[in-house]
Formats: sequence, structure tokens, C-alpha cells
Amino acid sequence: MVTRKTVWIGTNWKMNKGPAEALAAAEALKAYRAPDGVKPFIITPFTSLQAVASVLKGADVLVGAQNMHWEESGSWTGEISPGMVKECGADIVLIGHSERRQHFAETDWTVSRKMSAALRHGLRPLLCIGESLEEYDFGVTAETLSRQLKIALHDVAHADLPNILIAYEPVWAIGAGGRAADTDCVAKVHAGLRAVLCEIAGKDIGDRVPLLYGGSVTQDNARSYVSQPNVDGVFVGRAGWSVPDFEKLIERVIEERAPA
Ligand code: 13P
Repeated sequence: MVTRKTVWIGTNWKMNKGPAEALAAAEALKAYRAPDGVKPFIITPFTSLQAVASVLKGADVLVGAQNMHWEESGSWTGEISPGMVKECGADIVLIGHSERRQHFAETDWTVSRKMSAALRHGLRPLLCIGESLEEYDFGVTAETLSRQLKIALHDVAHADLPNILIAYEPVWAIGAGGRAADTDCVAKVHAGLRAVLCEIAGKDIGDRVPLLYGGSVTQDNARSYVSQPNVDGVFVGRAGWSVPDFEKLIERVIEERAPA
């Protein structure tokens, strides 16, 4: 029997789905049985996190939040603490999504604070990193990602690294105006990320950190990414917003899973 790697397939709902729509999607996903070795997850807006997590408690689909603050509590109007996210029933928390870095002044420093805060609260951080189009054009993708990774992971204990997820999401690939990265480009970037992780924590640990790709992933291109040796899943936006599309995406990905 061929041993296969675990494949993570998640969708970030972004600023979509109010509580009613989110709840209906959760109800539809409740009975979903993930194929062996596949870990599906959805990342919901705060307003439906608790309800969605409660419906999906014990189900195959994990639930995450899109952001959080690093402090336990205090005068931070409009923010949500790690404890609140945990109390809502989330398994995962998204940290450093490029839309937050770009539009809401998220920095490598705040990302770093959030990484350790999430782990302290028993949440699985999903760290997003990615270069801008300008950085890509200047040929500094590897340097940019290495910097983002090293700062984000600076205060994370090496033993905790296999409990995090990392998504490489080039800014130029994300959203309606984005173009999907070539498979070869993703393979090369992920090999570089793996090398940085091994440099940080040694090969035994570095090899066990799941690396996902995100940015204009579709049902048609998803499996080509996941068939690369250092790609442990995909993180999608639009291609997973409808439940049937999300389930179809998972089916398409596992059609050609690479051996571990
Ligand atoms: P799209 O798949 O819509 O390009 O978004 C990807 C993303 O930002 C996931 O976090």
C-alpha cells in the first residue's frame, strides 16, 4: 500500500456569509466525510464563528477564525482576543493574511506576536506569507518569504512547529484580479520554504510542517499543486465559497495525490 501525505484543503470565506448563510453552509458540511488523509477546514467571519463551530463540533471539517489580537484582553476596540476565538470553538486561526497586511497595517511584528499567542491558547495558527508583485518583479521572492517566516516563527518553540500550518499566498495571485502561480514556481518556492524551516528547526521538525499554496486555486489547477512534493494542501478563497464547489474541489485534489 502506498503511504500518502496528509492533505489540507481549506477555504477562507473572507467577508462573505452573514450568520444565516454561514449556518446553512455549516449544516450542509456537517455530514461530510473527508476522504482518508484529507483535512478540510473553513475559515469563517467572526459573526458566525461560534455557531459554525458548534454545528461542526466533532465533524470532519475543522473551523477557523480569520484574525485575532495577541493580547489577552484590554482596551483594543474592535478586536477579538485569542481566548475569545478559542471559546467560540475554533480549531484554527488565520494569521497574517495578505489582505490584512495590505489594508489593515498587519506587520511581521504583529504576526509574530499573534503566532505565539495562538499556540498558547491551543489554537492552530495558519500563517500566511507571500510576496507582492513588486517584490516578485524585483526577484526577491525568496528573501521576502524567508524574512516573513523567520520573524513570524521567531518566538515559536521548535516542538510546536508541526502543529502550525503555513500558506504561501503570493499577493499577485489572490482574488479576482490575481493570476494563479505556475506549478513549477510553487514547487520551487515551497522547496525554498522547506529549506528555511529545516534551517530554523532542523530537518526532523522542518520536514513535518505542512505547507499549503493559495491564490486563484480552482478545481482544475488544485491537483497539480498538491502533486508537488513540498505542497501539503491548498488554501482557497472563491473556489470554496459554495459547499458543493468545496466538496468537488476536495474530490479533484485527491484524484492525483502524490505519495508521501
Ligand atoms: P482566491 O482563491 O479567491 O484567490 O483567494 C485565496 C486566498 O486569499 C485564501 O486565503
